Amino acid sequence: MVADLRLNDGHLLPALGFGLYKVAPRETEAVVRAGFEAGYRLLDGAEFYQNENEVGAALRQVNRAALTVTSKFWGEESQDPEAVLRAFDASTKALGTGIDVYMIHWPRPKRNQYVDVWRVLIELQGQGRVRTIGVSNFARNHLERLIEETGVVPAINQVESHPWLPQHDLRAFHARHGIVTQAWSPLGRGRLLNDPVIGRIASRLEVTPAQVIIRWHLQLGGTLIPKSTNPRRLSENLDVDNFELSVQDMADIATLENGQRTGTHPDDRN
Ligand code: A2P
Repeated sequence: MVADLRLNDGHLLPALGFGLYKVAPRETEAVVRAGFEAGYRLLDGAEFYQNENEVGAALRQVNRAALTVTSKFWGEESQDPEAVLRAFDASTKALGTGIDVYMIHWPRPKRNQYVDVWRVLIELQGQGRVRTIGVSNFARNHLERLIEETGVVPAINQVESHPWLPQHDLRAFHARHGIVTQAWSPLGRGRLLNDPVIGRIASRLEVTPAQVIIRWHLQLGGTLIPKSTNPRRLSENLDVDNFELSVQDMADIATLENGQRTGTHPDDRN
């Protein structure tokens, strides 16, 4: 079993979770059950994924207490404090259970309200309504503002990262401030699985390309939420304890960096 990481608020976070982005509502219950049965203890959800009612139905069928459940504030319509509280309540109601980790899904820097949104999350945490607060898709300058203006450092920043986009500078900033890096699209939406460098390493170690990339994330000291709707692949992605990438393997994977994104840049969503 992959180890947990200690967050800056003292709580533990499983290094590997399963993501529910783009999981259709009709598939969600089965995926959550399969993820739990495979051994995942971190579920990465969000209001934006539009499947929180189905996640809630599935949570009633598993040992909820053993899972860390994440949700995120989307805030497309409004970033006002009341809108944050409304969204938090709506997600809590849909999930039918408390939220363990609540995040700002996107900084939306052009609206310039993310510090105020962050203050609401700080308040929710202070009231004991959520255990851990974090952010997602925040660039270094956004994090610096949160820290300077509120003094509260996010526990987690969930950002796109994979061998094409390792985010070394941001990871170093996170490390200096005790922020855990959590990678979304950790397999490059699956597009990195056919890469020949990854394939060669996988053949030599007799593991799969997905397992090589997942080890790469863990050996960088990060955490990740690979997405799969397939029970076999969900198990495969968790089975990464019995091998290690060498310094040379890590160096070979480092040559793949080209800055290519599979998703939206943090500054580009209004
Ligand atoms: P599927 O859901 O059919 O398993 P990312 O996490 O980077 O967004 O990548 C998700 C994509 O990678 C999905 O298309 C998923 O397809 C695929 N995927 C996830 N795990 C594996 C795996 N172990 N082997 C092959 N494809 C995988």
